[in-house]
Amino acid sequence: MNLAHSSSSTDGDLEALVERFFRERFSTDNPIITEAVKRMLCAGGKRLRPRVTLLAAAACGGNPVDHLHLAAYMELIHVATLIHDDVVDNAQTRRGVNATAVDYGNRVSVLAGDYLFAWIFKNVTLNYPHPVPHVLSATLAEICDGEVLQLQALGNLDLPLETYVEIARKKTASLFAASAQCGAIMGGGSAIDIGALHEFGEALGIAFQMKDDLLDMTADERSLGKPAANDLVERKTTIPLIAALASGDGDFRAQVRSFYEERGNDAIPSVVLGIEREGGLRATRSQIALFVERAKQALEPIAPGPAKRELAQLTDALLY
Ligand code: IPE
Ligand code: IPE
Ligand code: MG
Ligand code: MG
Repeated sequence: MNLAHSSSSTDGDLEALVERFFRERFSTDNPIITEAVKRMLCAGGKRLRPRVTLLAAAACGGNPVDHLHLAAYMELIHVATLIHDDVVDNAQTRRGVNATAVDYGNRVSVLAGDYLFAWIFKNVTLNYPHPVPHVLSATLAEICDGEVLQLQALGNLDLPLETYVEIARKKTASLFAASAQCGAIMGGGSAIDIGALHEFGEALGIAFQMKDDLLDMTADERSLGKPAANDLVERKTTIPLIAALASGDGDFRAQVRSFYEERGNDAIPSVVLGIEREGGLRATRSQIALFVERAKQALEPIAPGPAKRELAQLTDALLY
């Protein structure tokens, strides 16, 4: 990580320091929960949310070394949502290893996610000033709200694009927005900087979820580290399908409808081919590009510098 505002640390050190926190400092009073969370942390992950927090702090003139714990909490919130999400989505793998529920069962997974949320908030409320705890609590409510809206939308072939975007904003983008916003707050950003970084994180997060939904149909389990085509297995109507249905003919709609109505999954390869044929993948890439552009535009008020550049670069990476 290239964080030029950081005077007391060199490139790469910051990520290593966040990892050291996970390895050496993260522990709870419950050994099973500590083990389950550490296992998920050790399995990998892109560490995007803590990176956004540190870059946002640096972009506002703060020293990111001072905000390593905050960055780590962002990753831990993410980990807790993943533990729960895999229960909700019936997913067997995560980060290339068994999902928590596979090794520990649904009951421990539900409790481990809850415990981790509580552990994080115990620390955040003790150590961070208003409005950081409020922003994070509100974010958690939004994530749950988004997941519930998504459950209610399962099997709905007529899901409007706006509702899909609303679900993505809540379940995924709200944490990216909070990661950027809290980094900016603690980095000493002005009200304009804080607002800009929140807006940046939100647009980035929506683009990120669209890319995740695209990869669900185009990548394999080995590269994803989680099940491929699971959205179709779960009958989640995501953006590639919404776009393909919007431009597709009656035959394509009938094909998807019969797939949604049956229990089996043998038709998935031909549904994906249909989505591609009807332009659903291309349309998704265009929407990703739109939100990537929106995210970069949101950065406009931020003073130029390496951290701002890196935020733009990690956003651009969603285009490839
Ligand atoms: C997965 O997030 C959940 C979504 C919001 C799509 P990531 O793709 O960032 O997962 P890790 O952290 O790299 O495992
Ligand atoms: C992300 O959505 C859900 C959360 C952020 C809680 P997905 O269900 O698409 O994420 P993956 O594909 O399981 O990582
Ligand atoms: Mg999932
Ligand atoms: Mg997904």
